[in-house]
Amino acid sequence: MQGGSVAVFAACVAVCSGFIVLKDKEYIQLNDRNGGKSLNASTYNRLAFDPKHSILYVTVGAEAIDIKFAQDCGILLVANRGRPTKEGRDYRDPQGTVSKILLPADLNPDSPLTSSTISFNGAFAGDFPSEDVMELREKNFRYYPLRDPQNNLLTIMQNMEPERLVISPSGNIAFVSLPKNNAIARLTLDFDQVTRVFPMGNRSWTNYHLDPSDKDNEINLRGYNIYSLSQATEMAWITKGNDEWIVTLDTGKLNYHSAYGYADHDRAKAMSAKGSIATSDSKLQAQLNNDTELGRLFVSTEDGKNNAGNIENVFTFGGRGFGIRDANNFETPTVVVDSVETETERYFSSVFNTAFGKQGNTPQTDKEATSPSLGPELTAQAVGEYDGKTVLFMGGGSSGILYVFMLSPDARCLQPYFHSIHRRGDTLSTWQTSYAAGKMGDIGITDMMFIETTEIRPILVVAAATSNSVSLYGIADEAFTPGSVRT
Ligand SMILES: *[C@@H]1O[C@H](CO)[C@@H](O)[C@H](O)[C@H]1NC(C)=O
Ligand SMILES: *[C@@H]1O[C@H](CO)[C@@H](O)[C@H](O)[C@H]1NC(C)=O
Ligand SMILES: *[C@@H]1O[C@H](CO)[C@@H](O)[C@H](O)[C@H]1NC(C)=O
Repeated sequence: MQGGSVAVFAACVAVCSGFIVLKDKEYIQLNDRNGGKSLNASTYNRLAFDPKHSILYVTVGAEAIDIKFAQDCGILLVANRGRPTKEGRDYRDPQGTVSKILLPADLNPDSPLTSSTISFNGAFAGDFPSEDVMELREKNFRYYPLRDPQNNLLTIMQNMEPERLVISPSGNIAFVSLPKNNAIARLTLDFDQVTRVFPMGNRSWTNYHLDPSDKDNEINLRGYNIYSLSQATEMAWITKGNDEWIVTLDTGKLNYHSAYGYADHDRAKAMSAKGSIATSDSKLQAQLNNDTELGRLFVSTEDGKNNAGNIENVFTFGGRGFGIRDANNFETPTVVVDSVETETERYFSSVFNTAFGKQGNTPQTDKEATSPSLGPELTAQAVGEYDGKTVLFMGGGSSGILYVFMLSPDARCLQPYFHSIHRRGDTLSTWQTSYAAGKMGDIGITDMMFIETTEIRPILVVAAATSNSVSLYGIADEAFTPGSVRT
């Protein structure tokens, strides 16, 4: 790889046919390689292609959020989130969709660009929940809010909010994650159809440990009689011989629609004070009222309700780990639940679940900031083959911690083994000081890429929005010496 091109490369989500796609948290942008014309897909609902400065426009759906090229560059998919907006007194809540654009190999200003929309209409016909939807709901599929602020019933399609895409190496199947719906949909690209919606189910935390409080001044990983929604976001496709797997980051997502003034979450203690939680478990009730236990945790105002509309089973957001699922039937042979928080406590306890708060704070004083919301908040991943081994790299978005797991195939599935943990940023100086000195590390990780080089070591590229940085890590298979990174 050429040194000078590294920064541009890293900020991209995709590079194909002379196009570079740049992504920020809230919008995507398509540029030509010479830094030429660009358009903001979020604002204009269209993408611009620039084959030699005569721009071709393609209309996409509302609020494009992710974009992926198929391996042969012939197909480009765009995930359109379609959140509601308010114009004057009117609400507009477009359907969440995926746009498919066919790119001819010799793209020129006269090229016809064929685009089509893959919608959820076929999967969910009609406004009222059908039997299929009831079945999905039993496995924690969700679509909220049910009505807009003017009391109009919303369709399920309006509440489907696609976020991230992954395309199969063959280019005929794709998956789109729907974290707010706690689901992932399979798209059959030849027919522009949503062929399955897989609900992501729930996790009981009685036998797993999480740290839900930022007010106890210490890491207390404990089990509680609560549940969580996996809410996968980022996905990676792994092929091993005849087997295909999807690695999902079960990051979680809190839903807040500013146009509707709608939120699907509140702190457990506030919910409890309002009398909206009706549990017969008195120990849990005491924990929900205690800020050093579950009181600070964001819990769902929608899931786990009894017939009277009160919360009987308390749900929080995200799986705080990752899953490896069979790409064909989406069964879950392997889920990593609490080892991400456990290993963080072991090696980086001083910046456990930290997140940039105020400029004058330090990563250590902001420790546990994300404990009540999404915990380790895994926001990006990259999978690489190194020395005959499959390696999974994941980034804890807010804390700037990188996790490395080895994925070893056994008879049935890919088994993950914790390998090592890394963090480059300062922990003691203020965020402001370390940012100014270029020592913030990787904070606000948006993207990771594994790049094989002609040199001896492959490179892991980590792009981060808060630290405004691109980091390169040389990959070497050395015994992990925890002492060298303990802070
Ligand atoms: C793109 O549009 C979004 C939403 O309107 C806006 O927040 C963002 O600043 C725009 N970005 C650019 C580069 O124009
Ligand atoms: C959790 O998932 C299981 C399996 O899908 C389901 O039977 C159970 O009702 C769910 N629990 C809750 C509290 O939603
Ligand atoms: C809150 O929880 C902590 C930790 O378990 C416990 O020590 C404390 O006594 C509890 N406070 C109340 C008021 O129950």
